Amino acid sequence: VKERIVQEKGLDHTLNILEEGYLFIKNRMDRYQCDMFETHIMGEKAICLSGEEACKIFYNEELFQRKGAMPMRVQKTLFGVNAIQGMDKKPHTERKLFFMSLMTEERQNELTQLFEKELEASVAKWMEKKEIVLFHEVKNIICKVACKWTGVPVKENEIEDRADDFCSMIDGIGGVGPRYWKGKSGRNKTEEWIQGIIEDVRQGKLKMEEDSPLKSMAFHRDLDGNQMDLPMAAKELINVIRPIVAISTYITFTALAVYEHPHCQDELLCNEDKYYEMFVQEVRRFYPFTPFLGARVHRDFEWNGYGFKKGVLVLLDVYGMDHDPHIWKNPEQFEPNRFLEEKDRTYSFIPQGGGDPAKGHRCPGEGITIEIMKASLNFLVNKIEFKVPEQDLSFRLSRIPTLPESGFVMTNIKRKA
Ligand code: HEM
Repeated sequence: VKERIVQEKGLDHTLNILEEGYLFIKNRMDRYQCDMFETHIMGEKAICLSGEEACKIFYNEELFQRKGAMPMRVQKTLFGVNAIQGMDKKPHTERKLFFMSLMTEERQNELTQLFEKELEASVAKWMEKKEIVLFHEVKNIICKVACKWTGVPVKENEIEDRADDFCSMIDGIGGVGPRYWKGKSGRNKTEEWIQGIIEDVRQGKLKMEEDSPLKSMAFHRDLDGNQMDLPMAAKELINVIRPIVAISTYITFTALAVYEHPHCQDELLCNEDKYYEMFVQEVRRFYPFTPFLGARVHRDFEWNGYGFKKGVLVLLDVYGMDHDPHIWKNPEQFEPNRFLEEKDRTYSFIPQGGGDPAKGHRCPGEGITIEIMKASLNFLVNKIEFKVPEQDLSFRLSRIPTLPESGFVMTNIKRKA
């Protein structure tokens, strides 16, 4: 080892993650003027990395594995114990290609159309209300649509509770105490519900459309030729529905972006698909959602003069990379036109992970996310008019995950002529 890595002093910095949230890694990179340092969190050593080159090694399967990287508390809330996020090599690739087969462009368009229809249908109700909170409305709408699209039957009066359970799993990730317990109980309730439905499908008790993700998940066979056991099939179907519900966070940030950045108004009103795409890309870069990603060193190797030892925990700074001045000019400015420049951003723009989704762990739902965000943007700009009353629109970077405090309150909603 040629160079010594910066080592953060102190026994354990888990509390600093809770206090500094999205900025935990970036604050230290800035302080130490480096893109790699060693710290201690959750009782063990962790190496924090940032930058495009670091991202490339992080997604090298020969060097890193996901097995054993995810803390149990995250598996018990966000992901589901032993599900796709923690798999490696062949079994992971097989499971991943199966996930991707559920999200073809055609299926993606179906989902977006269902979503647009539900949004349209909500306007009449919103017009009668004094005010609505966008996040609350959208999480219910998108939960209903995600269930319909996957084939999961859900009653109208059940939707809000189900949506809240999905949101609690996402919200539980950075919480201790009540927030964590709520996330865990949301997951337990949802797993029980979805297991019951998959069981009904397997026993032929539930009439359903051919070709739905529910049916595919119920009967999918892994490499060993066996169906997934019931709990795993449920966890993986939840790994499709929950992240679709999570897009409600990005939709809320999209509304905030339109409101906070009036210099984009004229271009938004031109209503060109290219600008809408760049706008939502900038929302995914600018606003915080995924803080960082974790993996373990699979075998000893040396990189940038540092010896990575098998088993050590490594964190890649997703939020920091989205705001890194080496990657983005004026990163603290919201500027969709930065995406005009055609460039390979496979390992530099990673709000939903980096690399090739078919070969590694990068999110398979980016297409869905972008299309749903574009539809929401079109709806907010071209389909309705509304007022944004006095409210607290700030979001805390110290909280993982975060959201504008008010959830984005809208009043005087009207259809646009
Ligand atoms: C993985 C973010 C939407 C399904 C991931 C990862 C991130 C992420 C950061 C991990 C990447 C890695 O470990 O290298 C997001 C965000 C979303 C979103 C911020 C928008 C709100 C979706 C959607 C779906 C989805 C809409 C499905 C319909 C998945 C699955 C994985 C995953 C199944 C696990 C992939 C694997 O381990 O191979 N997502 N995602 N996500 N996402 Fe998303």
